[in-house]
Amino acid sequence: MDAIKAIEKRKSIRSYVSKPVETDKINTLARAANSAPKSGGFHISVVTNTSILLDIDEKALEAMKNSGNDFLMQRADTPGYRPIYGAPALFVISAEKGPYAQATASCSATAVTIAATALGLGSCYMISPILALTADSGLPAKIGVPEGYTPVCAVALGYTESEEAFATPHEVSDNINYCE
Ligand SMILES: Cc1cc2nc3c(=O)[nH]c(=O)nc-3n(C[C@H](O)[C@H](O)[C@H](O)COP(=O)(O)O)c2cc1C
Repeated sequence: MDAIKAIEKRKSIRSYVSKPVETDKINTLARAANSAPKSGGFHISVVTNTSILLDIDEKALEAMKNSGNDFLMQRADTPGYRPIYGAPALFVISAEKGPYAQATASCSATAVTIAATALGLGSCYMISPILALTADSGLPAKIGVPEGYTPVCAVALGYTESEEAFATPHEVSDNINYCE
């Protein structure tokens, strides 16, 4: 798939089958994560261990329920809702503390979502798993986040049967102007 098609086809996928993502695809995605623009150090934790994924999922759900944020609490109470949607792989992007940590990590995560689309995988850029890593101070070290780095965002990855999500085109926005 060419780059423009992958960018336009990418959608947030919120339903995954349990089939694992092949190692060569994981490695391609990790290279994509490391090919993004950056300002400062960043780190990619590739989580495929099912018990760690479950731990993140459960702690994120709990943190959402206790967040005091109406949107998050409502989401967490939606029947069947799971923060990482049963995805078999989760890339957690951390960045060196500093003013550009969020921008750097998000650039990397976006590259992962586009590469995933090109590889025929579903993906979802997410903040909610970060709530689990904040709530449980032991979790960042468990997934290999280096000392002095902050977990910023995550990308859920996997195969999906919900092809209709890909088929829904992005809305046409009027948020562009051209100064020629
Ligand atoms: C900062 C940020 C945080 C997000 N957090 C979540 C999240 O925790 N869970 C989720 O399912 N989607 C999350 N999203 C995905 C958005 O809901 C999604 O990108 C948006 O609705 C547009 O849909 P699309 O990605 O299918 O084009 C997040 C997106 C951004 C930019």
